[in-house]
Amino acid sequence: MHRHVLRLHEKYGAVVRLGPSEVSFIDGAAWKDIYSLKRCRQIERDPKSFPALTPNGARFDLLTYSPSDHAKYRKILNPSFSEKATREYEPTIHQDTDTFIKKLSAKLQDRDLKINLTQWLQWLTFDMVADVVFGEPFDCVTDERSHPCLALSMDLVSFSSFVVFVAWWTGLKNFLVKLSGVEGLFINMVRKQCDKNLSSKSEKASIFLNLRKAGGPLNQAEIDGNLTALVIAGSETTGFILTATSYYLATNPECFRKAADEVRSAFPSAANINDDDIRKLPYLRAVVDEALRMTPAEPNGLARKVVIDGIDIANQYIPKNTAIYVSQFAQNRHSSHFHLADEYHPERWLNDPRFKNDSLELVQPFIQGVNVCIGRGLAWMEMRVILAKMLWNFDWTIEVKDREPFEKAKAWHVWMKNPVHIKLLPRGTLKA
Ligand code: HEM
Repeated sequence: MHRHVLRLHEKYGAVVRLGPSEVSFIDGAAWKDIYSLKRCRQIERDPKSFPALTPNGARFDLLTYSPSDHAKYRKILNPSFSEKATREYEPTIHQDTDTFIKKLSAKLQDRDLKINLTQWLQWLTFDMVADVVFGEPFDCVTDERSHPCLALSMDLVSFSSFVVFVAWWTGLKNFLVKLSGVEGLFINMVRKQCDKNLSSKSEKASIFLNLRKAGGPLNQAEIDGNLTALVIAGSETTGFILTATSYYLATNPECFRKAADEVRSAFPSAANINDDDIRKLPYLRAVVDEALRMTPAEPNGLARKVVIDGIDIANQYIPKNTAIYVSQFAQNRHSSHFHLADEYHPERWLNDPRFKNDSLELVQPFIQGVNVCIGRGLAWMEMRVILAKMLWNFDWTIEVKDREPFEKAKAWHVWMKNPVHIKLLPRGTLKA
């Protein structure tokens, strides 16, 4: 769909009607006009595009359709994502990354080692989000095996998109959701992890501990819903962007060299790697920014619905009940916004004059406004630490025949997680 929407925008311009009551925008003004805080009572999350995966259709989480419930959950959860709180999770992020690096290092004796990076990074980010939410990882990396909830959330990528199409047929939707077992599996997981945390009396920084310290402001259904949402939203997105960045570095050896040189010269040993210093590395930041531009984690529209009589969006009158959104992939790959839009150039983020007319401000991978990603600070810290440690320890490359699964990946609500097989090598194997 993402490629088709891009073609339609190239043919018809910045505003395209994609269905009887559905309009896609790639105009710069649309971000603010659709998603900003001041519009949140005029334009709401579209339930059709975000069907609740609970049998009775109720939502008790941050993805709720109710602006007042949303504001309540945001107020309760925001402190767990403040800069101060996020810094408290840094030791956890290092520890989980070190387990990952150790596991992969042990495999390096095999000279022709190829690993499915998609899989490994999904395991790592799933472990990490569990560790931050409940104070304990799922041990996917240690056991080299997907936790049942991770396996299910991978299947949910296409399943939830299918549910979107049948959402109007409530009976069928509810039957499918029940059949999938999704609700039960996640609720059991959340309750088991919370019980473990309670009985261990762990004081390790975690979101669940913060909620306990705040006196338990969420009821059981709200804990089930919000902690499930955090685990799903916080793992596959970060894992995917790390896979994408690693893929682009593998296919652009000059970029790999610059990023690896920057990290290796900043830290004399892996033990010195810390987030305060990684933040100061401009090229590392640019390689991730450029991956987020090329393959945003949410490539298609995050639909909102006009709930007042009519409204102007990017100078276009939009009537009540129309679904509207910014299509990120189409916007980020459109030739009118970016020079060499289909090519990976971290330099465009570093004032390279070749890209002086690029509209960098349009790249909003975490969107903006009332639903801006609550976990963006945490995601950035995870991506910086994982990537810095990977670049410090390894070289990697990818054979031409292994590129297709990434290049041709389909995207529904989010991307299908096709396997990306890279050749993992000891640091310094690839010569400049
Ligand atoms: C590279 C990584 C990530 C990307 C690109 C990303 C992107 C996004 C986007 C685009 C949204 C808006 C969805 C919408 O309103 O329709 C969002 C919301 C959200 N994200 Fe993230 N995210 C990432 C990582 C995380 C992490 C690490 C967490 C938490 C552990 C998280 C938790 C959430 C939650 C709970 C929401 C709903 C916020 C709300 O509606 O108030 N995300 N994210």
